[in-house]
Amino acid sequence: MINEMEKDVSRVLISEEEIKKRVKEMGAQISEDYAGKDVIIVCILKGAVQFFSDLSRALTCHCEMDFMSISSYGNAMRTSGIVRISKDLDNSITNRHVLIIEDIMDSGLTLNHLTNILKTRQPASLRIACLLDKPERRECAISPDYVGFVIPNEFVIGYGLDYMGHFRNLPYVGVKKTDQ
Ligand code: IMP
Ligand code: MG
Repeated sequence: MINEMEKDVSRVLISEEEIKKRVKEMGAQISEDYAGKDVIIVCILKGAVQFFSDLSRALTCHCEMDFMSISSYGNAMRTSGIVRISKDLDNSITNRHVLIIEDIMDSGLTLNHLTNILKTRQPASLRIACLLDKPERRECAISPDYVGFVIPNEFVIGYGLDYMGHFRNLPYVGVKKTDQ
């Protein structure tokens, strides 16, 4: 059966197999770093949903899950960095080890703003794991502690990443065809 989303993909950037392999490696690294600790892994909805689900199952350390939903003002392709929390964490992170799990770091403004908010709650530690990193686009001094793939400055969709709410269910990361 034809995948109806594929006509919007100009090329596959990271295949399902490559994602699987890299997420396992990241899981092993994170498990080693947090061995003997109890970490709260925070899924940033909605983009991180696929990555969070796969990465969490690759962890062997103790963890609790929490979810946060943020929206940043901006258009479909670009964020303003002004973050509004539409669903906050359920539990306190004070004195806890916290690992934020996010789909992509682009300008970095969203995660910069978010980490500043979370730091005021005084976690024991605060780190960021991103599946994708577009360092060329960075507008502030922040970088993820764990990165799946460094990618070029192209707009990507799939494996949680959306364009106008769609394509999150594509099992791979593809470059979005530009609208003409
Ligand atoms: P930042 O604040 O510019 O780092 O942007 C972060 C958010 O912008 C991500 O969590 C995504 O939701 C969105 N974003 C940035 N680049 C892309 C992309 O290439 N595809 C889909 N969403 C993106
Ligand atoms: Mg997002």
